[in-house]
Amino acid sequence: MEALTAIQTRNSVSRLSGKVSPDDLEKMIFSGIRAPDHGMLRPWRITVIQGESLKKLGKLFSDAKLDKDPETPQRTLDKLRSNPLRAPLILGVCAKISSESKIPEIEQVLSAGAVAQNILNSAHALGYGAIWRTGEMAYSELVKKGLGLEKSDKIVGFIYIGEIDGKTKNLPKVDEKKVVDFW
Ligand SMILES: Cc1cc2nc3c(=O)[nH]c(=O)nc-3n(C[C@H](O)[C@H](O)[C@H](O)COP(=O)(O)O)c2cc1C
Repeated sequence: MEALTAIQTRNSVSRLSGKVSPDDLEKMIFSGIRAPDHGMLRPWRITVIQGESLKKLGKLFSDAKLDKDPETPQRTLDKLRSNPLRAPLILGVCAKISSESKIPEIEQVLSAGAVAQNILNSAHALGYGAIWRTGEMAYSELVKKGLGLEKSDKIVGFIYIGEIDGKTKNLPKVDEKKVVDFW
């Protein structure tokens, strides 16, 4: 798909199934790591989660929630456990914050956000559906630890990717007059 078309027609898709080929996964990762990066810190980590690891992530979510709130109802824990099974592939995108660097933390987080956006656009350009998700689990210290991240790191999102299962929603209309001004 032509680049501008891909960017302008990208739409989040939550119903995902099937599989993502290793070649396409590589293309998405290569697109992700072309993100702009002040100071060339490469302040990112992309965690590939597929197959049995999806179940492992679900268990990590459920354990983290129970640890934080031991009164959590079982149905909430079950939902958290099954959430990662909503797609055949999840790319966890994280900002690896370098605190010694002169580059402000927000710029390192934004750079990781650009990784996530490049992955979304490339997934769409390759014909897959994808959606950027966070939720409470993206802010859990236990989840971070379970993924092998440091306390100072930030999970910027879990990008769920797969074949589009069913219809896609219409592109939401954004009124550019409300978000653009010519100063
Ligand atoms: C940082 C970030 C976190 C998000 N987390 C969630 C989430 O946890 N669950 C969800 O349904 N949508 C989440 N979204 C929104 C969707 O990814 C999506 O952008 C939204 O549904 C609008 O659809 P569109 O991307 O097709 O315009 C998040 C978006 C961003 C940028």
